[in-house]
Amino acid sequence: MPEERYHADYAFAAASELLSFAEIERLARLHTALGVRKIRITGGEPLLRKNLPALVRALAGVEGLEDLALTTNGVLLESHAAALREAGLQRVTVSLDSLDEAVFASMNGGRRDLARVLAGIRAAGACGFDTIKINVVVQRGLNEHTLLDLLAHFRGSSSIVRLIELMDVGTLNRWRLAQVVPSAELLDRIHRRWPVEPVDAAYRGEVANRYRYADGAGEIGFISSVTAPFCGGCTRARIAADGTLYTCLFAEQGTSLRGPMRAGASDQDLTKLIANVWQRRDDRYSELRRTARVAERPLRRVEMYRVGG
Ligand SMILES: C[S@@+](CC[C@H](N)C(=O)[O-])C[C@H]1O[C@@H](n2cnc3c(N)ncnc32)[C@H](O)[C@@H]1O
Repeated sequence: MPEERYHADYAFAAASELLSFAEIERLARLHTALGVRKIRITGGEPLLRKNLPALVRALAGVEGLEDLALTTNGVLLESHAAALREAGLQRVTVSLDSLDEAVFASMNGGRRDLARVLAGIRAAGACGFDTIKINVVVQRGLNEHTLLDLLAHFRGSSSIVRLIELMDVGTLNRWRLAQVVPSAELLDRIHRRWPVEPVDAAYRGEVANRYRYADGAGEIGFISSVTAPFCGGCTRARIAADGTLYTCLFAEQGTSLRGPMRAGASDQDLTKLIANVWQRRDDRYSELRRTARVAERPLRRVEMYRVGG
């Protein structure tokens, strides 16, 4: 979200264009009836949504849901963690690209919020979120040199660091393959400092390849969607705040659920619509990324702040 475009006066969607909590809960109910077992609240920054614990409480009560998680930049987590936990949130993921104040700021629009993010992680741990995931997007020449310090900080804690290859999501991050640090290279560097061994996937379609430190200091994960795409095992649908359903992080278009919902569609109509979109999906952008078919086409992909990461 480059500052020059998403400045303080940028007109995001009007409140009336956003799904209400009741509409989100209804969609959650319809999706779980279709087999969804896990919901992640992401963004944008979810902790900026007013009264978020009320939404968490509603979602936590949806029948059939087994896992309710949230991804945040952590800046507001210290003051929100207890209420979210109390409302029924099960897991928290915090994005944190570096523990070096200057590097952190350079990757976060100049914000110097590192201490607040660390306080947020501590607060979440203290109020009962026992395994907090720490998402680190690694970029060549930017934060890669601070990675071992970050891993050292979280080794031996209950947090699990996940190293993510930089993706060309949306149209604005001026991605170049040269910015990507392949997971295999990171694994090699880490292994030389602290020997690691692979851990079996916990479930089919798990996006992170997991490793454990041989000395028992915990686990790390690698999300390698550039060098080892996993489109074939992807089971994720995404619903933007305005109610558009996307079947891929790299989608060029989605399907409005808000339109039919506000026009009076029944649960049955909506279920049919959702099932139809899901059955027709054939997205595999990450597998096609380097083919001519993708390279020649103009960029119209959905921006990441709409679909969460
Ligand atoms: C888009 S953010 C949204 C949630 C929240 N605002 C946050 O910062 O965690 C979700 C995740 O996407 C990751 N992410 C953002 N841009 C990325 C990129 N170009 N490639 C890979 N992951 C990215 C972030 O690091 C974060 O962990």
